[in-house]
Amino acid sequence: MTKLSTEPYKGVRDFYPEDMAIQKHIFEVWQKVAESYGYEEYSASILEPAEMYSAKTNEEHASEQTYTFTDRGERQVTLRPEMTPTVARMIAGKKRDLAFPVRWYSIPNVFRYERPQRGRLREHWQLNADIFGSEAVTADVEVISMAYDIMRAFGAQPGDFIVRLNSRKIWNTLTEQLALSAEQEHALARLIDKKAKITALEYTDEEETILGDKTKLFRADMEMLAKDAVPERLIGSDGVKELAQIRALLTNAGIPVVYDPTLMRGFTYYTGPVFEIFDTDPKNPRALFGGGRYDRLLELFSSDKIPAVGFGMGDVTIRDFLETHNLLPEQTSTTDLMLCLVDEKGRDEAPELARHLRAGGVRVAVYEGTKKLGDQISVASKKSIPFIVCIGEKEVAEGSYVLKELATGNEMTLDMAGITAFFRTR
Ligand code: HAM
Repeated sequence: MTKLSTEPYKGVRDFYPEDMAIQKHIFEVWQKVAESYGYEEYSASILEPAEMYSAKTNEEHASEQTYTFTDRGERQVTLRPEMTPTVARMIAGKKRDLAFPVRWYSIPNVFRYERPQRGRLREHWQLNADIFGSEAVTADVEVISMAYDIMRAFGAQPGDFIVRLNSRKIWNTLTEQLALSAEQEHALARLIDKKAKITALEYTDEEETILGDKTKLFRADMEMLAKDAVPERLIGSDGVKELAQIRALLTNAGIPVVYDPTLMRGFTYYTGPVFEIFDTDPKNPRALFGGGRYDRLLELFSSDKIPAVGFGMGDVTIRDFLETHNLLPEQTSTTDLMLCLVDEKGRDEAPELARHLRAGGVRVAVYEGTKKLGDQISVASKKSIPFIVCIGEKEVAEGSYVLKELATGNEMTLDMAGITAFFRTR
């Protein structure tokens, strides 16, 4: 009979204990920084009605990137491709009971039917941190500051990553003043979004096809913006003023950001400032974070206006970042001690001894099997369990045990209380 494959489904990962340890570290840093900003944790099911991901939130997702199926009751169901519509639904559903502004975070797994490649898979976990109910630029500054602090909490130096900032408002003003049709605006935004993936010639050709006789004006504006100068038609516009305030506040806080007029973000729900964080190492070209302001998304669920701003940060890209910059912490075992069995008496007594040690807070594994002592010790060492105690008739009779550290070979003779005391103070 042919055997089933041991590979996971295309584009998703198995988490062996070593991977789990890394993921746990990533989640702990996310959680710690999010809570240090006063964000409360929430969660939801991965299943959502498919209509949540219509063209209103993201065309790309709705058309080609979702896992959508029909359930037994003929309902269209989608595995969430992102958390933002879900959290918008939850906030709108409880708006009467919530004290705004609301600051929430979550670490959901999300699913996108993408072509798997470095930094891009079909399932990833994503920290989402969002603030609801504030229109002030200080809220935008807060979430960008949190994103920055997360990078620093992972041990990144300021030169290891770069924060890019743009504003949908500036873009909207620009395209409105050029009197572009919605289709033109949309095609242009998509073209800019994929600029890095096509040749310069392909880009200019398509730009001309979309814009026709407006190409020259548009190019002139974009060139000025790229030099961080404001084209005359945009001077004094809301988007420009707002972005200048945000940049000033971030600069005051010591957070370097780069204005990038070509930063588009794929989602159609963004309404104001948008930002992304990138690794400066070209090995990792995909964004580490992406976010922005989406003041109208909650209107899908509520007639009240609830402004919102936040970001998502993926576990795949941050893991690549941490590996590239040598920032992963050394792996340590979650077990303190293994009891090795010298003889029959040891085998009989080990479970009871383990029970006592566990009651004292020590994480203990008892060797299971019939191998020789040397082989038992290799098992402990292969699993990176730092300490062993060998138990036999003598140890049981005397109530005294030799605690051995495998890495150094150091030994201490202790009674049971001594062992628990040792691990408590470690
Ligand atoms: P996004 O830019 O699609 O934004 O995703 C945010 C981050 O999730 C990316 O920067 C990347 O780290 C990670 N990510 C996205 N897609 C993949 C993938 N296929 N494989 C691995 N990692 C990936 C959003 O999802 C917005 N909902 C974020 C947001 C929250 N905006 C406001 N609040």
